[in-house]
Amino acid sequence: MTVSLEQLQRCHVAVDLGAARTRVYVKGLGLVVDEPSVAAVNTRTGSLIAVGALAEQMTGRTPHYIRVARPVSGGSVVDIEMAQRMLRHLLGDKLRRSLRRKPRLRAAACTPHEADPLAQRATVETLIGLGARRVELVDTLIAAAVGCGLPVEQPTATMIMVCGAATTQIAVLSLGSIVTAVRIPVGGNAIDEAIIQHLRQHHQLLLPSQSVRPLQLALHGNGLQTTGPALTEIHGRDVATGLARSAQVDTAAVRQAIHTPLTAVLDGVGKVLRDCPPDLVADLADRGIMMVGGSALLPGLDQMLREATGMPVHIAERPDACAVLGLGAMLDGKIQPMVLNPLAG
Ligand SMILES: Nc1ncnc2c1ncn2[C@@H]1O[C@H](COP(=O)(O)OP(=O)(O)OP(=O)(O)O)[C@@H](O)[C@H]1O
Ligand SMILES: [Mg+2]
Repeated sequence: MTVSLEQLQRCHVAVDLGAARTRVYVKGLGLVVDEPSVAAVNTRTGSLIAVGALAEQMTGRTPHYIRVARPVSGGSVVDIEMAQRMLRHLLGDKLRRSLRRKPRLRAAACTPHEADPLAQRATVETLIGLGARRVELVDTLIAAAVGCGLPVEQPTATMIMVCGAATTQIAVLSLGSIVTAVRIPVGGNAIDEAIIQHLRQHHQLLLPSQSVRPLQLALHGNGLQTTGPALTEIHGRDVATGLARSAQVDTAAVRQAIHTPLTAVLDGVGKVLRDCPPDLVADLADRGIMMVGGSALLPGLDQMLREATGMPVHIAERPDACAVLGLGAMLDGKIQPMVLNPLAG
């Protein structure tokens, strides 16, 4: 961890700007914002019409003068100004005023593993624009591991897989640091996209991009598992005629379509394990893999991982919010650093 726990304890607010959702934790208050990272703008006046869940509902339903923007993409802030405006509205006046009263507002934010300097800079700029004097950056992998209660500071290996919307990050941690890690540009979005493409190609059916909580929708909660109905009815729009139509979709084929992006994730798991020192791999065989991030809820993904690795696989308690809750725990001083100085005792 590059930033020390003491520095984090001095922060007042923790932010996780994700491709899908933005989460904010305020010291002493807990998780105050957990909303989609979306803002709807009136292009005639430039004013903001809605943010968060309301703006997300507008996606694909707006007249031409309303633009729905996603200021965070691929795990990093791509539109700093819009991200600031979105965050300002998500926080609300009351909270913003109380934060502004702090003479030297300090913020912590998590950034994806090995985020490039430009992406890190964009996160810092966004928070400075909101009044922070100092911004501490923490690797999402560490924040999420703390958030799901893994004993990161111990000299024992733990393996974590952060399944986000834009990326999947996998790491082996020991003694508070990352031993090996990979970041794969495949996440929940790529899985959604695979399903949309499948329905388009094989059923000539267009699914509206956001009503696609497609997994549950298409698979009736069976996800990657083979139990459940073989066929399911899906409503969408005919590609050629543009008319509303429904189709009987073969769930096994949809499952197959999801497997394609997931092979990249499984390859990543293999790479991390191969790069890991043998002593740590032995620890991992007992402790297994902890899954966090919203896409960890994809039904059957844990089972698939179990079969592919032969290791125990667990899903964190609140997988989607683990990273920001981990940052929050560090802000609140709930995490004690391990003292690596046996001679002093
Ligand atoms: N119950 C669920 N079943 C399947 N997928 C889900 C479920 N809940 C959330 N997701 C998926 O999880 C993803 C959002 O996860 P998360 O909130 O961790 O992303 P993020 O932190 O914004 O993204 P990133 O870390 O990649 O920037 C979305 O792609 C969403 O479709
Ligand atoms: Mg995330």
